[in-house]
Amino acid sequence: MNIINRTRRLRKNPTIRSMVRETKLSIDDFIYPLFIVEGENIKKEISSMKGVYHFSVDMVLDEVKELLELGIKSILLFGIPGSKDEIGSEAYSSQGIVQKATREIKKAFPEIYIITDICMCEYTSHGHCGILTDKGEVDNDMTLTYLGKIALSHVEAGADMVAPSDMMDGRIGYIRKVLDEDGYETIPIMSYSAKYSSAFYGPFREAADSAPACGDRKAYQMDCANSDEAMREIMYDIEEGADIVMVKPALSYLDIIRRVNDNFNMPIAAYNVSGEYSMIKVAIENGILGEEVIMEVLTSIKRAGADIIISYFAKDVAKFLK
Ligand code: PBG
Repeated sequence: MNIINRTRRLRKNPTIRSMVRETKLSIDDFIYPLFIVEGENIKKEISSMKGVYHFSVDMVLDEVKELLELGIKSILLFGIPGSKDEIGSEAYSSQGIVQKATREIKKAFPEIYIITDICMCEYTSHGHCGILTDKGEVDNDMTLTYLGKIALSHVEAGADMVAPSDMMDGRIGYIRKVLDEDGYETIPIMSYSAKYSSAFYGPFREAADSAPACGDRKAYQMDCANSDEAMREIMYDIEEGADIVMVKPALSYLDIIRRVNDNFNMPIAAYNVSGEYSMIKVAIENGILGEEVIMEVLTSIKRAGADIIISYFAKDVAKFLK
């Protein structure tokens, strides 16, 4: 046999394989999302997301301790308020659920890096990500003023970074201006820049009780068929001052992550969303897939070009890597 190229030589054993491995996951890449609810002594599994829980503020402290022990240093907070109204006033109240959780977690664990999700859908009675006009459309510019208030209230409570997920036009520039005017020019913004209107958010909407009461989010979230448009979204967000840009969801959008990486010199986050998590979790629990699939899937997100991965699997990753 006259075979010149024998690629199997570098696959011969684990040592050589790890030496030539191009993509390595590190626990430093991960952000772990947490859902906080009002009340006390609550740690309740979310039925559509096995292994993910609703925590009351008192109970989330134990969870954060465990995360730190596992080497997970940053969390993304979502709040489920006690009451909702048309204008989502609990979202920007200093006594709101995320604000309370941020203060308590920071008090107990100053070293944890807290990122907060900036959106209105968990807080509005109609479940849309902004303020509605008389016609029932989301009023973009009016919504910005609320997003600014929400971001400021989170930062005042001690958030290290804010992450707007609403998909309104101009929000990054507006939030940047509000934070800067209040002396928070050192707080970074991670923008959900290319956020697609996706069926993969289903379990999250149950977890956050945030499904729109009528209609859908297609008038503000992106059409899954579009890639050029994602480049424009990313470009506008960078121009407006985003520090980190995000692609969401991750798995059906690996081509978008790669394209952002090829075109922009920015830190890129990818959100491995609830539906992607539950789909795999259910397959593992039913013995259809082996749990190694978790690392394979997450590696694909990093290989596509993500620097940061937001994932409900972060604790599993920490255990695999140990
Ligand atoms: C809020 C928001 C959503 C997610 C993150 N922030 C849901 C949505 O837009 O409906 C989804 C996260 C996930 O599915 O894990 N707008």
